Amino acid sequence: RIVYVNGAYVPEEEARVSIFDRGFLMADAVYEVTSVLDGRICEFEGHVARLHRSLAELKMAAPVDDAALLEIHRELIRRNDLTEGTIYLQVTRGAADRDFAWPEGAEPGLVLFTQAKALETPKAAETGIRVASVEDLRWGRRDIKTTQLLYPSLAKMIAREKGADDAWMVEDGYVTEGSSNNAYIVTGAGTIVTRQLSNDILHGITRASVLRLAREAQMVIEERPFTLAEAQAAKEAFSTAASIFVMPVVEIDGVPVGEGTPGPLAKRLREIYIAAAK
Ligand code: PDD
Repeated sequence: RIVYVNGAYVPEEEARVSIFDRGFLMADAVYEVTSVLDGRICEFEGHVARLHRSLAELKMAAPVDDAALLEIHRELIRRNDLTEGTIYLQVTRGAADRDFAWPEGAEPGLVLFTQAKALETPKAAETGIRVASVEDLRWGRRDIKTTQLLYPSLAKMIAREKGADDAWMVEDGYVTEGSSNNAYIVTGAGTIVTRQLSNDILHGITRASVLRLAREAQMVIEERPFTLAEAQAAKEAFSTAASIFVMPVVEIDGVPVGEGTPGPLAKRLREIYIAAAK
């Protein structure tokens, strides 16, 4: 694989970053994951807009401009012959002697790499996934896409130990989001319910598009928190992210949702989303 590191395209074995990089020492870094379908980048503008928001919240500089970022994405697709998969991008504050205070004048770091992966027709989209609830113990600025992923990673492992595929995190009795995706249910009346935007969740780029497409298809949406009990009694459930698009959730803490198979609305939204993203 050819990866991008601070201005250079190099084989992954040759990629080097400093051990003093604050991304490595302190998770002082933000990231984006963008999907690629048929060799084309999906939702680039949305991901770049959120990257700028994350950078601004942490008073971090963008290492290159947006045109250069787009070109790097395209060049990585070309060099790796990527037709389907994801592109990971990370901006770090840079390397400096270890100090809690932000360094003056550190050069921001930029790395990108591709991951080939079946996105359009993965097996999980046919079967749906099972989720287990895990307490949400993350920090209070989940709207900033930082590389502090230790807790979501632990949450996913706790869910795996319980025999599930992913975690849905719960705070004060209400579902916040999945370990790396936004969470939704469909009520008996057919209303799509998903938590409203705040600092409690990541503002998903897929979420914004799915809600827009759902509204265009005359579906009814309520943006509010929902409980686990409401989710278990729902007609359908699903998650969204750039890496899974719309993924049906068929079981929550061992309780089947609806028929225990992917629901019609989730399946339809998945189709609509993929058609629009292409
Ligand atoms: N995760 N919520 C969290 C906590 C996430 O980490 C993500 C994305 C999402 C969905 O955001 P989007 O629709 O913009 O991908 C929601 C990426 C895919 C990851 O960490 O791999």
